[in-house]
Amino acid sequence: MKLVAGNWKMNGLAASEKVIDELLQGLAGQSRLPEILICPPATLLVLFARKLKGTPILVGGQTCHPNPSGAHTGDISAEMLKDAGASHVIVGHSERRTDHKETDEEVLRQSVAVRRVGLSPIICVGENESAYAAGQTKAILSGQLKGSIANRTDEQALIIAYEPIWAIGTGRTPTIQEIVDTHGFIRQFVAAAFGNYPKGLRILYGGSVKPSNAREILNAEGVDGVLVGGASLKSTDFLPIIAGCKLD
Ligand code: PGA
Repeated sequence: MKLVAGNWKMNGLAASEKVIDELLQGLAGQSRLPEILICPPATLLVLFARKLKGTPILVGGQTCHPNPSGAHTGDISAEMLKDAGASHVIVGHSERRTDHKETDEEVLRQSVAVRRVGLSPIICVGENESAYAAGQTKAILSGQLKGSIANRTDEQALIIAYEPIWAIGTGRTPTIQEIVDTHGFIRQFVAAAFGNYPKGLRILYGGSVKPSNAREILNAEGVDGVLVGGASLKSTDFLPIIAGCKLD
């Protein structure tokens, strides 16, 4: 099943419940929907999870601490996210890697924590502008994948989000052929590195997904969904993105 995920980042107040109402109204009566996920800021997680219980929209966290609890001021554990009603947790988003100096090793520990509580990690990888320009995309991705994915063969719930940093929030995207090639590379790399590990592996594309390009990206070979930032904040953008998902 394809996944259309919205990452609200550090956006949203209690009044943003209105967006959720609009999404529910827009989806009402539709049966052939992809998996839909909203990752709001932690302050809205419980509110949204209660509101969305029993609806087609899931909620997720944007990061987590590897430990279950303890003296880590300001952090949130995977246990807490599960308790709040999350089904997925984004880990290793490039903004976390930059703003909070998160390393591949830290991202791996977070993804292990997410699996510890039975939720699905969405592990983000992607090259920056200069690596892209230098043709280093695959080398960068190999390092990130090797470093941030746990070597366990029983994994079923793994999701990788390919998010070129230069495409995030910029309006620029790789060509469809580049997305297809890179997703193919990630799938092969994970298979080679971890054996038959990625049976249920899904690979999302993220970076400037919007209503005008969503359909083509979502239906490209090897694309199992999208991770949407800015365009997930407004129902008038997010609903057409969801509608661009052709179900198998
Ligand atoms: P964007 O962000 O859709 O605003 O480019 C994507 C992301 O960071 O996940």
